[in-house]
Amino acid sequence: MNNYFFFLFLFFISSFTYSSGMRLDIHDKHVVMDNGIVEVTISNPEGFVTEIRYNGIDNLLELLNKESNRGYFDMVWDEGKSKRKKGEFDRMEATNMSVIVENEEQVELSFTRMWNSSLQGLYPPLNIDKRFVMVSGSSGFYTYAIYEHLDEWPGFNLSNTRIAFKLRKDKFHYMVVAGDRQRFMPLPDDREEGRGQVLAYPEAVLLVNPIEPQFKGEVDDKYQYSCESRNNEVHGWISMDPPKSTGFWIITPSNEFRSGGPLKQYLASHVGPTSLSVFHSTHYSGVDLIMRFRPNEAWKKVYGPIFIYLNSLSNGESPTGLWDDARQQMVNEIESWPYKFPASEDFVKAEQRGQVEGRLLVRDRYMSDAFIPVSSASVGLASPGEPGSWQRESKGYQFWTITDDKGYFSITNILPGKYNVYSWVKGYIGDYKYDKVINITSGSEVNVGEIVYEALREGATLWEIGIPDRSAAEFYVPDPNPKYINRIYVNHTDRYRQYGLWERYADLYPKEDLVYNVGTSDYTKDWFFAQVNRKKGNKTYQATTWQINFNLENVNANGTYKLRVALASVHYAELQIRVKNSSEANPPLFTSGVIGSENTIARHGIHGFYWLFNVDIKGTLLAQGNNSIFFSQPNNSSPFQGILYDYIRLEAPPHHTNFTPKLNILPN
Ligand SMILES: *[C@@H]1O[C@H](CO)[C@@H](O)[C@H](O)[C@H]1NC(C)=O
Ligand SMILES: *[C@@H]1O[C@H](CO)[C@@H](O)[C@H](O)[C@H]1NC(C)=O
Ligand SMILES: *[C@@H]1O[C@H](CO)[C@@H](O)[C@H](O)[C@H]1NC(C)=O
Ligand SMILES: *[C@@H]1O[C@H](CO)[C@@H](O)[C@H](O)[C@H]1NC(C)=O
Ligand SMILES: *[C@@H]1O[C@H](CO)[C@@H](O)[C@H](O)[C@H]1NC(C)=O
Ligand SMILES: *[C@@H]1O[C@H](CO)[C@@H](O)[C@H](O)[C@H]1NC(C)=O
Ligand SMILES: *[C@@H]1O[C@H](CO)[C@@H](O)[C@H](O)[C@H]1NC(C)=O
Ligand SMILES: *[C@@H]1O[C@H](CO)[C@@H](O)[C@H](O)[C@H]1NC(C)=O
Ligand SMILES: *[C@@H]1O[C@H](CO)[C@@H](O)[C@H](O)[C@H]1NC(C)=O
Ligand SMILES: *[C@@H]1O[C@H](CO)[C@@H](O)[C@H](O)[C@H]1NC(C)=O
Repeated sequence: MNNYFFFLFLFFISSFTYSSGMRLDIHDKHVVMDNGIVEVTISNPEGFVTEIRYNGIDNLLELLNKESNRGYFDMVWDEGKSKRKKGEFDRMEATNMSVIVENEEQVELSFTRMWNSSLQGLYPPLNIDKRFVMVSGSSGFYTYAIYEHLDEWPGFNLSNTRIAFKLRKDKFHYMVVAGDRQRFMPLPDDREEGRGQVLAYPEAVLLVNPIEPQFKGEVDDKYQYSCESRNNEVHGWISMDPPKSTGFWIITPSNEFRSGGPLKQYLASHVGPTSLSVFHSTHYSGVDLIMRFRPNEAWKKVYGPIFIYLNSLSNGESPTGLWDDARQQMVNEIESWPYKFPASEDFVKAEQRGQVEGRLLVRDRYMSDAFIPVSSASVGLASPGEPGSWQRESKGYQFWTITDDKGYFSITNILPGKYNVYSWVKGYIGDYKYDKVINITSGSEVNVGEIVYEALREGATLWEIGIPDRSAAEFYVPDPNPKYINRIYVNHTDRYRQYGLWERYADLYPKEDLVYNVGTSDYTKDWFFAQVNRKKGNKTYQATTWQINFNLENVNANGTYKLRVALASVHYAELQIRVKNSSEANPPLFTSGVIGSENTIARHGIHGFYWLFNVDIKGTLLAQGNNSIFFSQPNNSSPFQGILYDYIRLEAPPHHTNFTPKLNILPN
């Protein structure tokens, strides 16, 4: 057949080019959107992005991959009887395509998969609508998805959902996840047997014989490139192929739809070359963050839109130019949020949203009677719940900001609904919640006035270890084993992102566990960032007990002392606390029970969930002079089990008469 005539034939039946250059071609198996800058091909009706043509490159996506494995939404789900331990993987393949908008300014396509009971067990009980939007003059395209669970449907669990792009490995070699986290990356082949050697788990690979010798001896692990939701606004890859370098960027202009609040960590870009926008995952959180749908639970949520941005520069420019431009584009996208263009009514537009403002003050009795305005405190709205419940919340939307120099905050573009106002403040332990539930409706402007966080406090500080900031970063993070380096984290502020730091504990404390002497020890040097098991043999680990020694000049035998223990993450661990020189005492004064499944230690995180325990210590348990408190973690089945501490404080009993607590001199 004559291809030329075949092409013309198709052109006339299914294509129209507007004067703006906007074109939509609907073929049997594919749909093509083109605005004269970018051409995007999507499989019809599945809704897989199969081709992105830009800057003279016929496809930025990996041609060697199947069409379903180039640009796709996916999810991991189960109904409690999955064959796979981690649940079923679903590529969210759609069954119907429809054109929602087609004019000279915009094209919007919808790829849907509607659920009914004949699909039970095969697909998650969700109606799915994947949207792709192209706007004229824009160097990229938008995508968003609407998930809906109807009230007569069965329950299920959703543990992960995202959109993934697999770029061409022959072109994209330089990756940027942040200004200070960018590098030339190994190839996916370098991770294969013969070139790479799997370390303690499959994601971590030592590059023993990489194609580019420069990577030899380094560790590659995608979790080294994860980002907190609040810092996960733009990341991507650069191809430096002549004649012009090309950037592929995922811009997430709002994290209102992401689970778990601003501190939740998500994967971003990693070897593949892969770029992800993850909407929901259990990484650094564990089973507490699985979305559990009950039967008959009605739910609908819009994920996105996100923007896939493409840019280019003449040959010879450094990658900095493309990254700077991508960041500028990110700023533009954030300023345009909430977007006006999405055609779905489920995406709530600016005029239908509301706002909340106020001023946050903190009072920390025994430090000061003053109500202190705090700057850079996080304030946010999430579904009503307990203080701090936002970190385990995933079905609703969250809206966060930080306070200004005088403690004022303003949160705009809030979706209608019921919320609590939550806050946490660096330098103070605990979580704040404003008592009243706030009802946001279209155009609401709620002013909560001055709200006061009465920081948890019952007595003066006798001693403290660390900084209350929900992270273990201020503690001692060792140098990695020289055999397991990722070069970008050498001399980097995020030293904790190196592989294998958990094993360094046994090197530093081969026989005796960590002992911390209040007054002389320095937590930046003498408090290992994680209480992990000590490696003994090949697969055997020894439980540890850490000891804090402190001196009390006088003791109020009638009083109750308060030990505040804030944790930055826990993984299948139990914190047992004993007082005095009685580490064998049973039962302990306090036990947390086995808690946490955050897997933060293996994944090079410095925090997961925040946990706070307040332990009463009767004055009769303490002695004038030397005292010790023992922190034991008895579960020794894996090297990744353990506790990351955030901050520890001992408070004197409240309201003393004739009693002045002696404040120890604290390091720093
Ligand atoms: C969700 O997962 C849990 C196990 O993590 C399982 O016990 C439960 O049955 C699942 N729920 C549904 C509705 O599938
Ligand atoms: C599929 O999409 C077409 C428009 O392209 C629409 O007319 C039709 O109703 C849709 N079918 C289903 C089952 O949703
Ligand atoms: C349920 O969905 C399947 C697959 O889309 C379809 O073939 C079937 O007709 C649907 N059944 C009903 C009752 O709608
Ligand atoms: C929230 O506001 C809406 C609209 O004004 C109203 O219908 C609803 O009853 C309110 N809910 C509460 C809990 O106040
Ligand atoms: C790291 O810093 C130390 C001390 O500041 C310096 O001696 C060393 O050369 C640095 N290493 C690298 C790889 O930059
Ligand atoms: C440790 O593992 C190595 C290799 O698997 C084996 O040769 C060695 O005997 C093991 N050592 C012990 C103490 O189990
Ligand atoms: C403790 O209580 C006893 C009895 O009530 C009292 O005699 C004693 O003075 C108290 N000691 C202190 C230090 O308050
Ligand atoms: C603990 O108690 C034992 C026996 O009572 C004593 O020998 C030892 O010195 C004590 N250790 C500390 C650190 O106080
Ligand atoms: C108390 O501890 C200090 C420092 O560890 C030690 O020098 C001193 O001997 C101890 N005092 C007593 C009475 O055990
Ligand atoms: C120890 O940790 C494992 C997971 O590593 C967990 O399954 C188990 O319940 C824990 N057991 C105890 C006794 O702490």
